[in-house]
Amino acid sequence: MAAYRPVVRSLLPPQTGEVDLGAVYAVPDPGLGQCHVRANFVVSVDGAAELDGRSHGLGSPADKAVFRMLRWCCDVVLVGAGTARAEDYGPVRVPDQRQQWRRERGMRAVPRLAVVSRSAALDPAARLFAEAGGGELPLVLTTAHADATAVAALADVAEVVVCGQDTAEPRRVLDALAARSLRRVLCEGGPSLLGAMAAAGHLDELCVTVSPLLAGPGHLQLLAGTPWQHPADLELAGVLEQDSTLLLRYRRDKDAHDGQSAAQPPADSSSSSPMAAGAP
Ligand SMILES: NC(=O)c1ccc[n+]([C@@H]2O[C@H](COP(=O)([O-])OP(=O)(O)OC[C@H]3O[C@@H](n4cnc5c(N)ncnc54)[C@H](OP(=O)(O)O)[C@@H]3O)[C@@H](O)[C@H]2O)c1
Repeated sequence: MAAYRPVVRSLLPPQTGEVDLGAVYAVPDPGLGQCHVRANFVVSVDGAAELDGRSHGLGSPADKAVFRMLRWCCDVVLVGAGTARAEDYGPVRVPDQRQQWRRERGMRAVPRLAVVSRSAALDPAARLFAEAGGGELPLVLTTAHADATAVAALADVAEVVVCGQDTAEPRRVLDALAARSLRRVLCEGGPSLLGAMAAAGHLDELCVTVSPLLAGPGHLQLLAGTPWQHPADLELAGVLEQDSTLLLRYRRDKDAHDGQSAAQPPADSSSSSPMAAGAP
């Protein structure tokens, strides 16, 4: 029996028939030294980003199809250590046919995985390292604060890069990725990492799946971190739908502030520039 495949339709732009997800989500190469940062999240209608500490229960067939396609369209999957631990991250897998599709577009066959961790306290036996196979080693983007023993334990399973003193600075994270030709960045969260990236002005595109669920109070939301002084403007780039699940795609609104603060955090925060002004 053929595997179930969700039929996703486009509401914006309006389109009849099934959507070519590869065409919708392909990202042009941003060019040497530049990064395009796209984030992907799934939330309930009332904004919950996890159920019982994991995102699994929020997904739907359409969300899973887009989740996979976004991975196939990026050079690197960037994830916070909290999410890597909570979701027991494994290596990124790409079917042979898609590997060929990527090569034809000048991309590496399989995206690299990069984990952001202040402490570097990651288990070297975790799936993301242990099952990495013969490809490129995962990156661990950490800080000078990281425990030396933890860093040493990762020596054989990861490439460890220091991107800041007490926190991995978003600009330095992106510079480290761009230096390795990892320019199409897919940030899969979690809320702390995405909060830091957005507050620093480095989020170009946000893909949000809204699942037809009410989770109730008390859940993590899409962003965590220090409150912002001002909201950041977004513009809607596309809306897909499948079986009551909405797949929204927003871009940062480059015209809205023209270099002015939008999401600038309070003055005592270490984050610097706003979402609408800081990205390359
Ligand atoms: N709905 C969704 O689509 C979705 C997506 C992702 C995650 N989630 C959910 O979100 C929850 C995890 O949330 P979270 O906020 O803990 O996730 P997170 O951002 O993935 O992890 C936080 C941890 O990542 C590291 N980190 C993040 N930003 C850093 C920075 N700028 N510099 C240095 N280290 C940084 C730190 O690791 P160390 O502690 O190692 O120093 C920090 O404790 C889970 O329940 C997960 O299921 C949901």
